[in-house]
Amino acid sequence: MYRIVAKKELAPAVKSLTINAPLISKKARPGQFIIIRVDESGERIPLTIADLDVQQGTVTTIFLEVGKTTKQLGSLKEGGSLADLAGPLGKPTEIKKYGKVVCVGGGVGVAPLYLEAKALKDAGNKVISIIGARTKELLIFEKEMQQVSDELHIATDDGSKGHHGFVTDVLQKLITEQNIDMVLAIGPTVMMKAVAKVTKPHNIKTLVSLNPIMVDGTGMCGACRVTVGGETKFTCVDGPEFDAHLVDFEELMNRQRTYLEEEKVALERWKRCHH
Ligand code: FAD
Ligand code: FES
Ligand code: MG
Repeated sequence: MYRIVAKKELAPAVKSLTINAPLISKKARPGQFIIIRVDESGERIPLTIADLDVQQGTVTTIFLEVGKTTKQLGSLKEGGSLADLAGPLGKPTEIKKYGKVVCVGGGVGVAPLYLEAKALKDAGNKVISIIGARTKELLIFEKEMQQVSDELHIATDDGSKGHHGFVTDVLQKLITEQNIDMVLAIGPTVMMKAVAKVTKPHNIKTLVSLNPIMVDGTGMCGACRVTVGGETKFTCVDGPEFDAHLVDFEELMNRQRTYLEEEKVALERWKRCHH
């Protein structure tokens, strides 16, 4: 039984669920994810492990309600449970001493970034973080990121907090002012693509965490295939993190849009039954 032991609302439509999963919490490493199913007839969706507590035997995941399954997940209550949960899946982030590292997080991507930034800091890196959102109400994990970063920068699209503009503007400025050894970016695909474009001319090692559509999460269905350096990779087993300069972002974005019609229908049908 995957019981929900805590639920929080972090921002409008952004929720966190802490789930009882002792075996997973013991094995999971930063950068890995789980695949959940809300109920018996539900689809499988991947969510990154945002935090874990080995003592309590729990994993926490933070998600943005975008469609049918994430809204259904957000409607569950403390004490409720999930039909199933598989994990930890994917390869953990390569944590080592790089030197000066910039962690870039956009929107709900800031949550999965936190554990990785923390591990990078513990490994002796200087961690500079840049977190961004459309507006200040949607900024999450600011306090947590502050705790694991030597320096924290904020950017909002509307200028309601920090730099008025994109996280990439701040990154560009940092790069011209100092030597950066590695950049890790997690967020919307357009943001990760923009980060890659900024770091490439400077030859700075850049990792991104990709989020293609996944079904089984074990390398068998092929749904999550992406092209990296001209080769086909399965994000669920070969990733989710890849060298940003080698990723075919256009293909990824096209594939993410494959089922837009079906997703719209599923959401409307679910809303009709639940409101
Ligand atoms: P839908 O309306 O069905 O879909 C909305 C969009 O989400 C689609 O257009 C598609 O691009 C994408 N999507 C749909 N189904 C899937 C699927 N089965 N797998 C992946 N993407 C899908 N989101 C978070 O909010 N927090 C996280 O920590 C997080 N971690 C992720 C980690 C990985 C490794 C991956 C691959 C994705 C992650 N996502 C995360 C994205 C999340 O899985 C999707 O937002 C979710 O599946 C959308 O489901 P839906 O039914 O609510 O929306
Ligand atoms: Fe099926 Fe990766 S999700 S191969
Ligand atoms: Mg869906």
